[in-house]
Amino acid sequence: MTERAQAAPGRRTVIGAGAAVLTTAALGVTTTAQAADRPGHGGGHRLDLPVPTVIGHRGTSGYRPEHTLGSYQLALDMGAHIIEQDLVPTRDGHLVCRHENDITATTDVSAHPEFANRRTTKSVDGVSLTGWFTEDFTLAELKTLRAKERIPANRQKNTLYDGRWEIPTFEEVLRWADREGRRRGKPVWLYVETKHPTYFRGLGLGLEEPLAGLLRRYNRHRAQSPLILQSFEPGSIRRLSKLVATPRVVLLSDAGTKPWDFEVSGDPRTTDDLVKPAGLKWMASFAQGIGPTLDLIIPKDASGRLGAPTTLVRDAHAQGLILHPYTMRNENTFLPADFRRGTDPNAYGDAFGAFATYFATGIDGIFSDNPDTALLAAADFTAK
Ligand code: G3P
Ligand code: CA
Repeated sequence: MTERAQAAPGRRTVIGAGAAVLTTAALGVTTTAQAADRPGHGGGHRLDLPVPTVIGHRGTSGYRPEHTLGSYQLALDMGAHIIEQDLVPTRDGHLVCRHENDITATTDVSAHPEFANRRTTKSVDGVSLTGWFTEDFTLAELKTLRAKERIPANRQKNTLYDGRWEIPTFEEVLRWADREGRRRGKPVWLYVETKHPTYFRGLGLGLEEPLAGLLRRYNRHRAQSPLILQSFEPGSIRRLSKLVATPRVVLLSDAGTKPWDFEVSGDPRTTDDLVKPAGLKWMASFAQGIGPTLDLIIPKDASGRLGAPTTLVRDAHAQGLILHPYTMRNENTFLPADFRRGTDPNAYGDAFGAFATYFATGIDGIFSDNPDTALLAAADFTAK
C-alpha cells in the first residue's frame, strides 16, 4: 500500500484559449502569464500535471478517514498528482474540509453531550437531512471533534484511525501544502470543491469570496497556480471565474439530474443538456474542464456491466475541455460488475482492469480513493 508508483512520464495538458485539448511534453510550452492571471481570462491555463492525472479523492479515503491531514499526507506520500478537498463553512465563516455540512457520519459529534441539542432536521438542496451541521458550529467548537471512517462496514481497517485527526480548515491545508511543497521542491497540487454553494449563500455564508481571498493570500489565484477549482453548480464556477484565474472544472452528476443552482434559478437544462455540444461549449466559456460521473463516460446496463463508451470524451475535447471523471474505488461493491472478483463485496476486485478500461477512453485523469492503485494503472497505460 505504501509503495510509491512511478508517475506517467513526460505528458502534460495544455488547455484554454478555445483550442482543443493538447497533451504534450512539458518543455517548450509557453503561456501569456500576465494576461492569463486576470480573473475571467479564458485561456493560457496550463496544468503541469502528468496524464492520466491521478486525483486523491478526499485524500486517500480508501485507507484513511476522509478529509483529514492523515488522509492528505498519505495521498501525497503515495505520489498522487493532486489531492482533493471538499469545502463547507462554519457558523463564523471559516472554510473547513468536509464532504458535506452534515458531519454525523464522519465525526464523533454524536458522542459529544454538549452538542446534543444541535441535532436538527433541515433541507439541503431539496433533501431533508437530520443530524449535526457545520454551519451551526463555530470553528472552535468543530475543533473539539474528531474525524472517523464514513463507511466502516466496507472499510473496517480504516476505523483503526478513528479519532486520530481533527477537521482541518482549508487554510491549514494550504499551509501544509506550502510546507510540503518546499520540502519536496515542487508544488503540492490541490483540487478544491465548493459544496452546496447556493444553499450556503442563502444563509449569508457564501463560499466563493472567502475561498478567493485564501487563494490570493496563498498565491494560488493565478491561471498557472497548482490548484483546480470544482463545483457541481456551474454558477459557483462562473462566480469564481470572476474572482480568480485559477483553473476550473464543472462537475456533472448522473444523467437526468440538474445542478441545484439551475433548480433554484429555473434554468431548465439538465446534465443531459450539458453533455451535448452546446452545453459543453457553454461550460468552456468559463471552465477548463468537466468532472463527469464514470457512467457518463461508459454507461452500465441493468446488471451493472459496462456498455459502449459515449461520445463525451471526444465532444468535450472538441470544446477544449479536459475530463476528470469520478470515482474509482477498489472494492467489488463499487466496481462495474465486469470487474468484480469473488463474492465478498468489500474485497478488492480487478481494479486494474477497470482503470485500464476507463483510461482507454481518452480521459485526462481520474478521482480515486486508492491513488496508489491508480498510479500503477496510469503507469501501465502510459507504457503501452
Ligand atoms: O469532486 C469529484 C468527486 O469528489 C465528486 O463527488 O460527491 O465525492 O464530492 P463527491
Ligand atoms: Ca468532491
